Amino acid sequence: MCGIVGYEGTREACDILIDALSRLEYRGYDSAGIALLGQGAIHIERRKGKVEELRKILDGASLKGSIGLAHTRWATHGAPSEKNAHPHRAGDVVVVHNGIIENYLALKERLKKGGHVFVSDTDTEVIPHLITDYAQKGGSFVDSVRLALKELKGSWAVGILKESERTLVAAKNESPLIVGVGDGEYFIASDIPAIINRTDRFIFLEDNDMAIFRGRDMRIINVEGEDVVREVRQVRWSTEMAEKGGYSHFMLKEIFEQPRAISDTLLGRTREEEGDVEFEGVVLPDLAAVRKIWMVACGTSHHACMIGKHMIETNLRIPVETDMASEFRYRNPIMLPGDLFIAVSQSGETADTIAAMREARSRGASTLSVCNVLGSTLAREADNVIFTHAGPEIGVASTKAFTTQISVMFLLTLHIGRRLGILGRHDVRERLREIRAIPRKVRSVLDAAPSIRAAAGRYMSFRDFLFLGRGINFPTALEGALKLKEISYIHAEAYAAGEMKHGPIALIDDGMPVVCVSPADRTYKKTCGNMEEAMARKGNIILISDDGTHEMAARAAEVITVPSAAYELQPILSIVPLQLLAYYIADLLGTDVDQPRNLAKSVTVE
Ligand code: AGP
Repeated sequence: MCGIVGYEGTREACDILIDALSRLEYRGYDSAGIALLGQGAIHIERRKGKVEELRKILDGASLKGSIGLAHTRWATHGAPSEKNAHPHRAGDVVVVHNGIIENYLALKERLKKGGHVFVSDTDTEVIPHLITDYAQKGGSFVDSVRLALKELKGSWAVGILKESERTLVAAKNESPLIVGVGDGEYFIASDIPAIINRTDRFIFLEDNDMAIFRGRDMRIINVEGEDVVREVRQVRWSTEMAEKGGYSHFMLKEIFEQPRAISDTLLGRTREEEGDVEFEGVVLPDLAAVRKIWMVACGTSHHACMIGKHMIETNLRIPVETDMASEFRYRNPIMLPGDLFIAVSQSGETADTIAAMREARSRGASTLSVCNVLGSTLAREADNVIFTHAGPEIGVASTKAFTTQISVMFLLTLHIGRRLGILGRHDVRERLREIRAIPRKVRSVLDAAPSIRAAAGRYMSFRDFLFLGRGINFPTALEGALKLKEISYIHAEAYAAGEMKHGPIALIDDGMPVVCVSPADRTYKKTCGNMEEAMARKGNIILISDDGTHEMAARAAEVITVPSAAYELQPILSIVPLQLLAYYIADLLGTDVDQPRNLAKSVTVE
């Protein structure tokens, strides 16, 4: 996610803003910029790269001004570059933004017809132009901002500055933005860590709030122009605690960010009215000619591919072959020109996956990457790219990237199905309703975190776990086992439930908990049989299901019930308790959850 900071006060703003910006670096970004209003003019500096680059420029410039904005950009629209870095300007209005403007293309077209000239590839740039457009029609600055924000669809947190007035406006909708209240000065920031060293008094703006700062005065209104009252709250966090939003680890924060990450990944792509899904800028090859779809990745991303295979084969009957990238590269794969090769990667920099995609391209495949990082190698080299909008994933153990990758796979299935005429408008409308409900359902699973933490306390001493799942639940079991082993260092392996009797059952006794992913789907009965076999050998069953009346529930050692969802989306709900179980066990064991031993966040070596 991007980082926003702003200052209005009596002190020189430059150093305050750069210091605040550097405290947001942990969020991940690719460029940075600053705008200072001094001597009646706004000076803007922007650089691709680190905040340090900006600081070097500013040290030499000794810019003056006691009101300003600064920004770190996590690119969602428009590659990382100086021209796409914030702040963006139109006339004498300057804006920094965090979020996704879903209707920016339509607004941009309208404004261009009205004579506005755009210089960047970003969605953000429509905001200052829209404000200026209203101002040119006679609106006051605050009213122009208000009317512009009312037209935006999507998510935003914005800082807005007008050159001809010493006025700073902060506003938000879905993306976070807070106000720091100092002595005769005000701060705005995306997150507490940026300004925790300046004040312990904060106002947490709510959706459609607009905070207006003029000198020592602050006023909060909503986009309807009505005054609103917001409480000033005291927050006494350490800087380190603040960076994790009060969570003990980035991984836990990212587990709890999943509802927002999934919502952001859907944003701007679902067309409920038309019953369709669109990916901006994506032009897939002639799908009717696609004989086979390949889905190739590593680790967690490979598990997402296995779920994507179920989605596409179940709904579209197109053959999908999945493979681990490290295997794909050396098996001399039989590919036909026109095959669609999908590389999935959170970082976009995994060496094996990059090499696999290059191998596929050399064999004539059309390539599509599903990535979380704009400007990454896989995002740049693929013929097409679809981004998960999970925001920076800092914990080494992948969580929100996984559930947003599954979400993209589901959208892609609908997109392809519609274009092949396999799925009609009504089908897609129905399926979109299902995925729209997922963020809320994930939230209800997260509400059960305390009971999962309690269960973790009962299982932290075991040294071996077996995870079982059948059908689409098998990759979920694989992912649950991977989470546990990589952060707690406990041996955990996953098997297709039907395979249990072909070997792993020899391992089962009361010293090996058996985690069974068993929603009430087409594999339910068979998996119940596996659980019977495990319990007959004193296996402690930890049951994950959406069925509160599961026939094995009474005899399972633990039962974690999650909401029901469509077959293809159930893995998103089943994996959340397994992420939490792994996290809490590791936390109780005291391992380095965010940076587990021997692991890297992105494996850029083969
Ligand atoms: C998952 O928790 C691990 N960190 C690891 O398996 C990871 O999924 C794998 O290295 C692939 O990374 P990528 O998604 O960035 O390509």
